[in-house]
Amino acid sequence: MKIAIASDHAGIEMKEAFVNLLSEFGHECLDFGSKNFESVDYPDFAEKVSKEVSEGNYDRGILICGTGIGMAITANKFPNIRAALCNDMYSAKMSRCHNDANILTIGGRIVGKDLAKEILKVWLNTEFEGGRHSRRLLKIKSIEEKKFQK
Ligand code: RB5
Repeated sequence: MKIAIASDHAGIEMKEAFVNLLSEFGHECLDFGSKNFESVDYPDFAEKVSKEVSEGNYDRGILICGTGIGMAITANKFPNIRAALCNDMYSAKMSRCHNDANILTIGGRIVGKDLAKEILKVWLNTEFEGGRHSRRLLKIKSIEEKKFQK
């Protein structure tokens, strides 16, 4: 898959580990920053990745900040984005099976290295189940469309 990834200063180490893992797993990945530990604002980085996924230029996105919360709040402002905060494996699996999440957000200050790798693997490799869950996603889409028609 084509994957866009970014973090703020609190997620740099996890982002670098993920960039290496993604290429090891055979995905094409582009790093949208941040590139150093200088304090930055997470919405700026959430915007870069969310825009790319929203416009269909990338299949999926990954956003890392201290908790993953700010990245999720920001990413879900963009049309076509279903960003899921997954700091555990069950959420990562269900965000794909039931919600067809196209952006993973994760907390660089919360999740340890080994767990983060497992969360990434399950999130990349779990398919959307469709069926009744598709109906629910259509309802989300219709709420989104009402919002953008205002
Ligand atoms: C930065 O200190 C921190 O607020 C940010 O990384 C994130 O956790 C916000 O949700």
